[in-house]
Amino acid sequence: MSQVPVITIDGPSGSGKGTVTALVAAHFGWQVLDSGAIYRVLALAAEQSGIAPTNEAALRTMALQLQVQFVDGKTLLNGADISRAIRNETVGAYASQIAALPGVREGLLQRQRDFRLAPGLVADGRDMGTVVFADAQLKVFLTASAEERARRRYLQLKNAGHSVSLPDLVEEIRARDERDTGREVAPLKPADDAVVLDSTTLTIEQVVERILAEATARGLAG
Ligand code: C5P
Repeated sequence: MSQVPVITIDGPSGSGKGTVTALVAAHFGWQVLDSGAIYRVLALAAEQSGIAPTNEAALRTMALQLQVQFVDGKTLLNGADISRAIRNETVGAYASQIAALPGVREGLLQRQRDFRLAPGLVADGRDMGTVVFADAQLKVFLTASAEERARRRYLQLKNAGHSVSLPDLVEEIRARDERDTGREVAPLKPADDAVVLDSTTLTIEQVVERILAEATARGLAG
């Protein structure tokens, strides 16, 4: 099978997946798939249309028909820029709720696989290595302690001028972890053949270096 190469980077919220994915993709000159953004777009579209987060049939139909585009770092829904709107916590929580429905996951499956274009893809999510790209050449599971992930998020929000409480963030992160790991379909867990990287005490640069070393060991060109 001469498939376009894929590196999958799965892990919990706040593990640094997004940043690491962008850096690894830039190194190779490959495409990026931010699968969480797709779940978030569907959540926003459903919210705007008044579809209940339990209406699996309507959500599946919407997932199949969603007019979403990723252009120049922007996320467009029916042509409108929703890059900022999908990042709020309400949309994130709605996304994680509808992501537990098998019909939604199935409805978004092919859309995610369509990102596998030459010369290669780095895919960021929760089930990239276990479900969507089960035949990926390199699978990484990136994690960090809940406290460290909350601390990173806290600094990010504080620097952006928001007033936030660290204990509240630790609680929020724990709740989201529980929802994502506890669900029946495509729960968050490392693939059997994944390289597990704990970034609690590593810098972003060190994480990227490790991933590039694993990629080289697998003969991926860069
Ligand atoms: O990564 P991000 O926080 O943007 O993802 C939002 C939510 O979408 C996650 O909490 C998770 O429930 C869901 N998701 C998923 N599978 C993926 C990516 C995201 O279930 N591959």
